[in-house]
Amino acid sequence: MHMHWKVCPWVSDAKATNARASAARLLDQVVSGRRSLNEVLKIGLQNIADGRERALVQELAYGTLRWYYQLDALLQCLLNKPLKKRDSDLRCLVLSGLYQLARMALPSHVAINETVQAARVLDKAWATGLVNAVLRGYQRRKPQLEADIGDSAAALYAHPGWLIERLVQDWPDDWETILWAGNQRPPLSLRVNQQQTTRPDYLALLQREGIKAAPLAHTLHGIKLEVPVPVDALPGFDTGLVSVQDAAAQLTAGLLELAPGLHVLDACAAPGGKTAHILETEPGLASVTAIDIDERRLRLVEDNLARLGLAARVLHADAAEPASWCDGESYERILLDVPCSATGVIRRHPDIKLLRRPADISSLVSRQAQLLSAMWPLLPAGGMLLYTTCSVLADENERQTARFLEDHPDAVEQKIAVSWGRPCACGRQILPGEDDMDGFYFACMRKQL
Ligand SMILES: C[S@@+](CC[C@H](N)C(=O)[O-])C[C@H]1O[C@@H](n2cnc3c(N)ncnc32)[C@H](O)[C@@H]1O
Repeated sequence: MHMHWKVCPWVSDAKATNARASAARLLDQVVSGRRSLNEVLKIGLQNIADGRERALVQELAYGTLRWYYQLDALLQCLLNKPLKKRDSDLRCLVLSGLYQLARMALPSHVAINETVQAARVLDKAWATGLVNAVLRGYQRRKPQLEADIGDSAAALYAHPGWLIERLVQDWPDDWETILWAGNQRPPLSLRVNQQQTTRPDYLALLQREGIKAAPLAHTLHGIKLEVPVPVDALPGFDTGLVSVQDAAAQLTAGLLELAPGLHVLDACAAPGGKTAHILETEPGLASVTAIDIDERRLRLVEDNLARLGLAARVLHADAAEPASWCDGESYERILLDVPCSATGVIRRHPDIKLLRRPADISSLVSRQAQLLSAMWPLLPAGGMLLYTTCSVLADENERQTARFLEDHPDAVEQKIAVSWGRPCACGRQILPGEDDMDGFYFACMRKQL
């Protein structure tokens, strides 16, 4: 969806130059510093008081990363020689300039002039001619350049080549759809706190506030906003009426067959979206234990539960080493929402395209296998372990769980019979974009009596 420039709040903003320079610096921290976009934006946006400027920085950062592999291929065609390593901020500025020309509905003279001026703000006045020449060159030669980069799959699909290859292998009929979905802007999806309100009541509240929204397919308490808004603009967000959560993630709690009196373990809980949903779904549970290895992220679980008026036992612990925190307790339900490649949520986190590397996948696969094996003894006979990822890679999903079943004769797969997703050799996969959901994988495993 492109915004028309006439309704674009930042077009002739005097501060836009700074926004472009700020975006270039933040992008450089992701591209060269290999830091996550969320992390750098959280800090970077704090220093920008003007709301419109913040919106532009965000748009440039997300958009440039989303289309990075395409923009980079264009840049390589447009430069006579590569920019020096020490000019990586300038390189990010030019990429964001190309993004404005290629993908934002801004008047091209605004995009070019403001980007050229931003080079001065980066203390690189020497480069204004170069920035100008590259951006004008793109304007002039656009059709030819686009044809020239068409031979490269990475440029064409705006994803890294190694990931495209893996998707072609794993999803021979769907890889293009997955890549296309990875380049879309994600919807803002909400989960209504059923302990405090109902979906129809919250929809009515949104309508009164002039926020257009509709129920989310497949979910009982999900809502999709027509146009995303900042969370602090959501009525009752602070007092826990609602949380932000994608539709696919909202399907997890329903698969756990929650019932009063059960003990539930959420073994990889932070930031607590699913812990909270479990508590909202079944207030009669005997206990909910939420653990995470990352102490900083675990604080987000505590904050979220407090905001929503919910309570759980929150532990800073390593799920792979239960002996260090578990004193013989067992849990009839275990949710294992493992760390994964996040290849199903690239539309939300376009920096994954740059930050994830092929070698990460094999180390994630071994960590996941280790976590599965460590959790299994905590499940009593008859209990259920739900393994989930936001990945679309078979190694982390169906191959991982099929191997686990082979190695654990007391584990049986409980088929997930639902109207969404598609069955795999083991478990069920939602591909990104299906009914506008994130890519997500689920496998239910029962311990035999
Ligand atoms: C996919 S995220 C969980 C998202 C969470 N379930 C939610 O819905 O909000 C995976 C989490 O696993 C945690 N993690 C990774 N290794 C772990 C381990 N060995 N023990 C416990 N938590 C771990 C990470 O810190 C991360 O917070």
